[in-house]
Amino acid sequence: MAAKILDGKAIAQKVREEVREGVARFAAAHGRPPGLDVLLVGDDPGSVTHTRNKEKVSNELGMRGRLHRLAEGTTEAELLARIAELNADDAVDGILVQLPLPGHLREHRALDAVDPAKDVDGLHPVNAGLLALGRPGGLAPCTPSGCMRLLAEAGVPIAGARAVVVGRSNLVGKPMAALLLAHHATVAIAHSQTRDLRALCREADILVAAAGKAKLIGGDWIKEGATVIDVGLNRDEAGKLVGDVDFEAAKERAAWITPVPGGVGPMTIAALLATTLRAAEARAAKLPP
Ligand code: GUN
Repeated sequence: MAAKILDGKAIAQKVREEVREGVARFAAAHGRPPGLDVLLVGDDPGSVTHTRNKEKVSNELGMRGRLHRLAEGTTEAELLARIAELNADDAVDGILVQLPLPGHLREHRALDAVDPAKDVDGLHPVNAGLLALGRPGGLAPCTPSGCMRLLAEAGVPIAGARAVVVGRSNLVGKPMAALLLAHHATVAIAHSQTRDLRALCREADILVAAAGKAKLIGGDWIKEGATVIDVGLNRDEAGKLVGDVDFEAAKERAAWITPVPGGVGPMTIAALLATTLRAAEARAAKLPP
């Protein structure tokens, strides 16, 4: 079987247009655009690029996107004070603390300080807890939300499907598994200690690869007719961008597959902005998202 390509670029464009319309409606109703504030501590080049992109795209869609650059030597107290200011600012609907933070700053202290109603990353324990409990009213991390949208766009049945998520990060693996479970999949989470990962992957109707290891998952690890969502973004020996899945081999067996680049990547910012709009609407209505 030659897989159909799940075109993240095209679907992200569709999500962006939905967000653009929602932003215009919100601005007309409330006299201000939704606000997304991104905090970056330090100068990590990858993080600088990512956060600039979040600022740029949010503004392109009519939001008030702001990137706050904080010096590498920022203290925890200074970072928490900036977060408290943004929590208190009614024009701020979404707050994102870019990770990783420099080593002297404790990630959980920063993430726990964000108002859960503005936590568009879904990393506050309240939001992670609501998702783990399968309760509505929380905000979910953007990459898994984008993956769920890809599955929905392809019309992939989730209820009753066997899903394997490779990777257990708080940003992707765990929330991805919780979202799939909330949609009634039978979910396994695999990680670096998993025995016989190949055999587990071969059972997956839906395989989500989020391990961060170039071509970890070979073509013969894919069940015939599976849907493969590749969250990985790695460089191979030749410097080429590749996913966690051996795309060329896997596409011969899968029914649907995301390419790298052009699959999950473009969905991430689109999903973040959709979540920001939802957070803004919920705050304005004084309801949980
Ligand atoms: N670093 C890489 N991806 C992300 C993300 O989605 N959110 C945050 N806060 N940091 C990141």
